[in-house]
Amino acid sequence: MTTIPVALGTRAYDVVIEPGLLARAAAHIAPFAPRGFVAIVADEAVAVHLATLTASLDRAGLRWQAITIPAGEASKSWAQLSRVGDTLLQMGVERTDPVVALGGGVVGDLVGFAAAILKRGCRLVQIPTTLLAQVDSSVGGKTAINTPAGKNLIGAFHQPTLVLIDPDVLRTLSARELAAGYAEVVKYGLIDDADFFAWCEANGRALLAGDEALRTHAIAHSVAAKARIVAADEFETNGTRALLNLGHTFGHALEAEAGFDGRLLHGEAVAAGCGLAFAYSAEQGLCPPADAARVAAHWRAVGLPDSLAATPVAGAEPAQLVAHMRHDKKGSAGHIPFLLARGIGRTYLDRTVDLTAVERFLAEAR
Ligand SMILES: NC(=O)c1ccc[n+]([C@@H]2O[C@H](COP(=O)([O-])OP(=O)(O)OC[C@H]3O[C@@H](n4cnc5c(N)ncnc54)[C@H](O)[C@@H]3O)[C@@H](O)[C@H]2O)c1
Ligand SMILES: [Zn+2]
Repeated sequence: MTTIPVALGTRAYDVVIEPGLLARAAAHIAPFAPRGFVAIVADEAVAVHLATLTASLDRAGLRWQAITIPAGEASKSWAQLSRVGDTLLQMGVERTDPVVALGGGVVGDLVGFAAAILKRGCRLVQIPTTLLAQVDSSVGGKTAINTPAGKNLIGAFHQPTLVLIDPDVLRTLSARELAAGYAEVVKYGLIDDADFFAWCEANGRALLAGDEALRTHAIAHSVAAKARIVAADEFETNGTRALLNLGHTFGHALEAEAGFDGRLLHGEAVAAGCGLAFAYSAEQGLCPPADAARVAAHWRAVGLPDSLAATPVAGAEPAQLVAHMRHDKKGSAGHIPFLLARGIGRTYLDRTVDLTAVERFLAEAR
């Protein structure tokens, strides 16, 4: 069992990682359930894992009630927030009762936000079931829903009380979702950990093929990186947490262009986005071309898109992609903050990027 503390003073908590943990979840949750009651909100697609969790609670003599939400990004909505909030109130949830979010980033973000505002804030236990949620969204306290104006625009910072990660639940996840989550794993290496990127180059394919020990190692290493970054910049005010957006400025533009219709998963967009960030850095003479080539080669090796040309929106107008970036970052004039790289493991925030140069670069990347 690996326990990674997230050092946030009065909001500190542990992330516990262990294969098979779900079947023993009650022992970890019980100390945070003073009334012996646990509320659960689960993705409808993880019914088999919900059964494992509730069996553990039953064996420990904890009372529980569960609701499920429809799978998919559309559930990060006012409608589902209101449904979850009303249902938790009907259950009689008190502020000290744990509300468990069992699912991927969609359930984590939605239920995290519901927990943030239910009775002005109640206990939240994250039990992430996608690789993306295990290595990224379940740790750090960002919660949100989407509105017609854009993604994640209504939300709150609300740290969980506990995060339980069972790598075994990934066995039911599709290979495509697994690979998309892996893009966020590699991202930690690209940000500030060249040794970990080299580890990914050596082990990524075996990890995706199902090697459990490699998978668990990658999750623990990623969570430790995220915990370090969040502890240094909980509310994204000093630039440290912004490093996690590597590949996301390009990536969000690709996602917006694809229209969130399932053709391009978030992690796939992040992979292509990291490829583009490194290629742009190399083109600008900031980063050795060999490093950009290594990044692209690794994405290809694991079947992820390495650049714009490898995505379903390869034909997008560069001016349109840049317009998405401006909208995403609410950028003024010709500049928006960009994560660029001086090399693998040497990402930095650049506020001087010229969007006309980016547009020209994208025209060549097509
Ligand atoms: N809060 C943060 O810091 C943060 C960070 C990154 C991403 N996010 C958010 O996370 C969301 C994406 O998360 P995601 O990629 O986990 O998507 P998701 O929650 O939609 O899960 C992806 C798919 O996998 C299914 N699924 C989940 N677990 C499964 C399992 N074990 N077996 C089989 N199927 C399973 C889901 O039903 C869904 O269809 C986005 O809304 C994004 O904005 C938040
Ligand atoms: Zn991401």
